[in-house]
Amino acid sequence: MLSIFAITLVLLSANFVANGQSTVPPNSRIDCDPTPNSNQGECTSRGCIWDSNFDSNNPTVPLCYYPPNTGYNATSTTKTTATLKPVPGGVGNPYGSNYPELQFTWKSLGSAVKIQIAPVDITRYRPPVDINENANIQSSEAFTVEIVNKNIFSFNVKRKSNGVRIWDTSIGGLLFADQFIQISTYLPSKKIYGFGEHIHKNLQHDFSKYTTWGMFARDEPPDSAGDTPKNLYGVHPFYLGLEDDGKAYGVFIFNSNAQEVVTGPAPHLTYRTIGGQLEVFFFPGPKPEDVVQQYQQVVGTPFLPAYWALGFQLCRYGYTGVDEVKQTVKRLADAGIPQDVQFADIDYMDRYKDFTYDHNKWAAWPNFTDELHSMGKRVTLIFDPAIQADYDSFKRGIDSNASFIEWPTQDVVMKNINDQYPYAKNTKVMLGVVWPDKHVGFPDFLDPTNLTTKWWINEFKLYHQQQAFDGIWIDMNEPSNFGTNEDHPWYYDSSDHPDDLPLKCPTSGDNAHYDIPPYATASSFWQSGNVLATKTLCMFGTTMRGTQRFFDTKNLYGLSETISTYQAVKEVRGKRGAVVTRSTFPSSGRYAGHWLGDNTARWEDLQTSVIGAQEFNIFGIPYVGSDICGFIGTTTEELCLRWQQMGAFHSFSRNHNTLGAPLQDPAQWPTVAAATRKHNLFRYRHLPYLFSLHFAATLNGGTVVRPLFFEFTDEEATHNLSHQFLWGSNMLIVPVVTQGATTVDAYLPTGADWYSMSDSYYGTKVTSGHGNYAAPWDALIPVFLRAGAILPRQSPALTTSDARKNRFELVVGLKHAEDGTATASGELYWDDGEAWVDTINTHNFYHFTYDFQYTSAIGTLTIKQTKAATGITLPYLDNIEVFGYPSLPDMKTFNLNGSPISAPASDYSPFSQIFNITGSNFINLNTGKQWILQWKNH
Ligand code: NOJ
Repeated sequence: MLSIFAITLVLLSANFVANGQSTVPPNSRIDCDPTPNSNQGECTSRGCIWDSNFDSNNPTVPLCYYPPNTGYNATSTTKTTATLKPVPGGVGNPYGSNYPELQFTWKSLGSAVKIQIAPVDITRYRPPVDINENANIQSSEAFTVEIVNKNIFSFNVKRKSNGVRIWDTSIGGLLFADQFIQISTYLPSKKIYGFGEHIHKNLQHDFSKYTTWGMFARDEPPDSAGDTPKNLYGVHPFYLGLEDDGKAYGVFIFNSNAQEVVTGPAPHLTYRTIGGQLEVFFFPGPKPEDVVQQYQQVVGTPFLPAYWALGFQLCRYGYTGVDEVKQTVKRLADAGIPQDVQFADIDYMDRYKDFTYDHNKWAAWPNFTDELHSMGKRVTLIFDPAIQADYDSFKRGIDSNASFIEWPTQDVVMKNINDQYPYAKNTKVMLGVVWPDKHVGFPDFLDPTNLTTKWWINEFKLYHQQQAFDGIWIDMNEPSNFGTNEDHPWYYDSSDHPDDLPLKCPTSGDNAHYDIPPYATASSFWQSGNVLATKTLCMFGTTMRGTQRFFDTKNLYGLSETISTYQAVKEVRGKRGAVVTRSTFPSSGRYAGHWLGDNTARWEDLQTSVIGAQEFNIFGIPYVGSDICGFIGTTTEELCLRWQQMGAFHSFSRNHNTLGAPLQDPAQWPTVAAATRKHNLFRYRHLPYLFSLHFAATLNGGTVVRPLFFEFTDEEATHNLSHQFLWGSNMLIVPVVTQGATTVDAYLPTGADWYSMSDSYYGTKVTSGHGNYAAPWDALIPVFLRAGAILPRQSPALTTSDARKNRFELVVGLKHAEDGTATASGELYWDDGEAWVDTINTHNFYHFTYDFQYTSAIGTLTIKQTKAATGITLPYLDNIEVFGYPSLPDMKTFNLNGSPISAPASDYSPFSQIFNITGSNFINLNTGKQWILQWKNH
């Protein structure tokens, strides 16, 4: 052994010798016993190195770690392939037998690259997800891969322009057994963003210690006050990194099994998964926004929400009936608070059964839906995937041969459950327990025959005939199941279903290796007693008509339900709506948005929701928001006010709270009502800009809510700014996220000039850099317009249906050049707000560009229609507000396309330098293709 270590030492300078043994420095170890309570005996029996010097200052350093020669050797290589065999004499796989032969391959996807590692001659599970794995990604920068085979096989993913190693796997530790796959890499810097779904207390990962992030879809409320990195509802093995010179890159690991990633101080990553194979995409950026667009070329660009879905939405769990909903809607209207969407949670259903409504307290629900429509409002309903086993929807499913998640064979079916239900008796449907009174089956939306989706769509159709809902909220789709493997589940003590036998999964014997795999990942062991099936179905179950294991496809449950539901919206409404889903996976953004789950009414949760929305934009799911005012617990006036202010800037803007908590709609407190009214009116006024950002993301990929470092990458101060964000490139939002604050500290990037859009100093330039801004309860939170930008806007109203009829406006933030001239530009995407989008390129939409030029003699605004739609009438552009206008304009000289035009209500203030051009039926955007508005300056 000693001689092998001695050779290693020569080759790997990172290693050093202590007590005659080659060791690995504490900052770059790969944990050989990542379960809780590792011990020396177990460690050395694995052939790993035990470090008995526990360092209380660095308590996360693995004490049991792999020796440096752990991994595979390349026995033969070509430029793009390597055949790998386990390193002779190296440590084996602690959780199974390493495959004796692996194939490494890499290929270019235009400027991006993809690597793959899989056993030779063995077909392994690969996620059945529609991604474009052959995307031809074009960028000014490109990656290449270099195969290295010295002591152990390793490879580098390199940036061609400067040789920076995005991945350098010479840290070792490659293992590949059936149920334990591990790969580690050094990183080019500590600046990593993403991986999900988790609570991250900062936007940037913390590499000062080791942290393990499990990724396994789980019904787990985010815990923003605690310190345990828990796996939440969705799975996103994607991260974005910044290199030292500010170039950005992205890495996507395409795997749907239970998995985890460890961030370590070298800086390095260790990725582990317990199934499938290694398939990793690397995107070269070089700008952060490029990375997201490149990622979306593989996973798909985001769906376009209906325009109304950008309005304010209200929900609660625990409405007592339609009367309470009516009172709530009225309360908001009376307080002048814009609201577009009213939700109903499971309360509306008949005993929590999908596709039914309670004919007592909710008898008037279908009628009230029509009434809401006549007020220009919309209705979104919750639907859970779990279908009670004894009513019509389930029967129709069985009769039409829809498939459900099943037990693999008849002999293992829990007959004591299935035999209770004539429709489920003699089937293999795996029955569990969720909200309904009786056992439930879980439709298998991955069913390749499409019969399941067909049945699902039909259920929506039938229900829609009873109640004309608009949006669909899909919940509990990790999928969540109550009481799995428990002898006394919590619901035994609840009046809803006190005697439903809980699901029991095989935890011993031949069938147990799915439910109790050799290594169950941090997703299960952060809480003692957890197994993979905790809160969900048995991993042993089958999907895809018996061809796959739930063990492999579980993380795709939410995504597959989302796709079927997205199709249901099209079939049922024939128009765009919005689906919001709790569980997500890469590519979910193509079909739906996401809310950040069951947060708690605490300041910490408000803070992390600002981060969560930025992360989901990085994940390609820009239609995202948190439960405003907090879901669990009792909110306070101040917290709710601050959350309403911030939430007005999230694409999915919905206030929601839980059963038993006091009402928290914004009209509960006069102060919160006033603040919400103010912020929602601001939002509604700027919806043409928000909609344009969503449209551009659908068309070209990209983010809507954007971290500041995306735009100002060369300013270090933006790299870990967690609690500020941008709308697109041009609007900067600084929410108040701490209790008792009356001002807020902010960083305004110095790479731009900024105009205040808030009440104080409205329209005037503010000093860039670090600053402190007034943030009283009754004013707009600090919001800034970037100099050089023109944002389209529209006079607001209490619903988007009314607002869409109001005059168009522009706000122009002039960027001044040294020669005394000034410019700004912008764009507008516009469609009818709800026509279904099949292909965004051929969709019926308008596109306009705006260009503003100022010289001391004249001002010119050029509007170009670069794409015309048919059958859509556009309101007049009647108002143009210009910030930073340096001269006194001569308002008698306005001319449009060369003909004099009057704008009698215009004014100019030399003090604020705000120039407001206001006309009536001023610029008709329905006729013509180009409009040049010009005037002289005094
Ligand atoms: C869990 C969801 O996360 C929550 O938003 C909802 O209110 C409850 N389920 C009840 O449906």
